[in-house]
Amino acid sequence: MTNIGSYDERVKQFDWSISEKELEYSDGNIINIGWYCSDRICDKGHGGKTALIWEGQGGVEKRFTYNDIRIHSNSIGAYLRSLGIKDEDRVCLFLDRIPELYIGFIGILKIGAIAQPLFSAFGDESLHLRLEDAGTKAILTQRKHVGKVRKVLDQLPRLEHIIVVDHDGKKPLKEKEIAFSMEAAAPVENFEIFPTKAESPSVLHYTSGTTGKPKGVKHVHYSLIGQYLTAKWVLDLRENDIYWCTADPGWVTGTSYGIIGAWSLGVTQCVLDSGFSADAWYSFIERHRVTVWYSAPTAIRSLMKAGKEAVERHDLSSLRHLCSVGEPLNAEAVVWSKEVFGLPFYDTYWQTETGAIMITNVPGMEVKPGSMGKGFPGITALVIDPKTYEPIVEPGRIGLIAFKPGWPSMMRTYWNNEATYLSKFNNGWYLSGDRARLDKDGYFWFVGRDDDVINTGGHLVSPFEVESALLEHEAVAESAVVAKPDEVNMEVVKAFITLKPGFDPNPDLELKIMNFIRKKLSPLAMPQEIEYMDSIPKTRSGKIMRRLLHAKEWGEETGDTSTLEDDE
Ligand code: WTA
Repeated sequence: MTNIGSYDERVKQFDWSISEKELEYSDGNIINIGWYCSDRICDKGHGGKTALIWEGQGGVEKRFTYNDIRIHSNSIGAYLRSLGIKDEDRVCLFLDRIPELYIGFIGILKIGAIAQPLFSAFGDESLHLRLEDAGTKAILTQRKHVGKVRKVLDQLPRLEHIIVVDHDGKKPLKEKEIAFSMEAAAPVENFEIFPTKAESPSVLHYTSGTTGKPKGVKHVHYSLIGQYLTAKWVLDLRENDIYWCTADPGWVTGTSYGIIGAWSLGVTQCVLDSGFSADAWYSFIERHRVTVWYSAPTAIRSLMKAGKEAVERHDLSSLRHLCSVGEPLNAEAVVWSKEVFGLPFYDTYWQTETGAIMITNVPGMEVKPGSMGKGFPGITALVIDPKTYEPIVEPGRIGLIAFKPGWPSMMRTYWNNEATYLSKFNNGWYLSGDRARLDKDGYFWFVGRDDDVINTGGHLVSPFEVESALLEHEAVAESAVVAKPDEVNMEVVKAFITLKPGFDPNPDLELKIMNFIRKKLSPLAMPQEIEYMDSIPKTRSGKIMRRLLHAKEWGEETGDTSTLEDDE
């Protein structure tokens, strides 16, 4: 028996109060995700259960029980409070996937502050933009990343504390830096958790849009109601599971399901903080007897590349349920996983903005390889006409994926950008910005994004951000950035540039430009290729015609370019 039981029955009789009841929450009460993910599990008598199995570089392993999570997050919360951090202050987590990241997240939420997780791979410019926009007050980081914070510190007057969680006392700390060790800190048994309510802000995740400026997606504590139930019904997490979510908490999957989903259910989860290789991943599953695995298409395609032999070198018999998110999951990948693991990957679709899974395959439902599945119970998901914003009823016709607003984990706004937030709604629908079609059985089939945002291996990259970085180089006159097809990442970033007079298009210059932008962009946003052009195609009003360059890369018809020129 699966947690969800019959999908059709659940859809017929659904109410979010199912989740509220299980969490013993009722309207108007206190709801604090930090408490739900640690104290509540201990109160239920599971304080001694393993919450986190962590493995770092070189195979070092650490384990934390729910009681450890409770006490360490209390210590972090108490420490932040002692620095003067209060509810609604933004606290950034700029850490590798070390235990402090997961437990620090809980500690921040416990004091009612807003957790702002960022990929530790971000360069100083990416970091600067996001800390400045959020008006971040404190940042938790590591020795190896503190240099990036130092570089932009003088441009961040609102950043008061740089907390180094692994300071070894060797190199002196600089301005605003302080050392704090989670494990060495005095254990805080009793801690006064901030009484956050449903609408109190919890997490701020930055996501890329077309215009370049990353948008801060604001979530609230009530999102738990959605994350808990989707983790229970889609990921099918149960008491004895060993769960592995491969996503970094710099990305929403790594918080909604890499922290909140599993811990609010009291499930043991594991984290691998080292680079990717098929063998390393399979050994990890084998060693910890992972049962439920939530990953992404890029990783799955890389595993496919490593072949069946790599699978056969390991005992993966513990696996019982596999899910995927972040990009289109090719039908081949589903067929392959069935063949080699004996289980299909269940595709799930959602966004940073939606906070939790929206369209999905669930256990017990027939999986149609290549389809994203159907709306989660309680979610009104549909495709609408891009011109009239009316629902499309006939199967097969492509439209925009839209949702009826009102699910618990929906973002509440874009930070400092209410106008863009409001522009995501039309005719009573929330517009996802993706295109899809429905088949006669109500399954969604992903078609593509409706904007120029590039999805490379699950990471959204703004073409504008890359173009801007390129333009800062002295040799670059114009730039245009589009997606290019790639076997593993599906899409990679490709840049077209024109040069200023006096510069020669040659491979040496390309290398110099690459090195220049590497300092500004996150590694995930780096172009794989730069192509020199004599001129960049533009509309009459000067907008870059990325669609034309995109079509060229994908070997598609460029279509009627005159309409593109009018499309302003
Ligand atoms: C894409 C990720 C196809 C989509 C949790 C969406 C997908 C964007 C799928 C959100 C899927 C996510 N099939 N495309 N199953 N899941 N996407 O905000 O374009 O990083 O709008 O959140 O990823 O990416 P985000």
